[in-house]
Amino acid sequence: MKKSFIAMLTACLLISSAVYADAISDRKAAMKNVGMAMGAAVKMFKGQMDYDPIVASLAFAVMNNSAIGLTGLFPKGSETGGDTTASPKIWTDMDGFSSAVAKYQADAAVAVAAKPADMDAFKAVFGKVASNCKSCHEGYRIAKQ
Ligand code: HEC
Repeated sequence: MKKSFIAMLTACLLISSAVYADAISDRKAAMKNVGMAMGAAVKMFKGQMDYDPIVASLAFAVMNNSAIGLTGLFPKGSETGGDTTASPKIWTDMDGFSSAVAKYQADAAVAVAAKPADMDAFKAVFGKVASNCKSCHEGYRIAKQ
């Protein structure tokens, strides 16, 4: 009896830690995609790459998609492990974090809908979306040691 409980609880523990490890790797993967989208957007912004409206729209779409369900990738129990740089503040201030995600998604949605045809139109929406990266990272992410 005791042995089978130990086996069962060990399995539960493995499954739950696998789920949490997934949440961490999923959110890191989502953010990595966003980082790549941002890289392309910044290159165009700085004139290191010719402006391409398709690249711009894709970059904004990646950002918008990354915000959808993002809060759900920070379940209780995923505060540590998996090389996470998420700040503990996310779990003590989940409302604030959720609002930051919602604002990010709304700003990215505006940029997607704008379908910026040229650099001026791009610049008009880019800054607002990009400001979300900085403000959320400052508030809810810890610097990697
Ligand atoms: C609402 C909050 C929030 C917003 C907005 C946000 N991020 Fe993040 N980002 C995070 C958190 C939290 C982490 C740490 C995740 C972890 O390590 O578990 C992170 C991690 C990252 C990482 C590191 C991923 C890795 O490999 O570990 C990159 C790159 C990144 N963000 C880019 C961006 C860019 C670019 C933007 C804006 C377009 C952005 N983020 C917007 C919260 C946010």
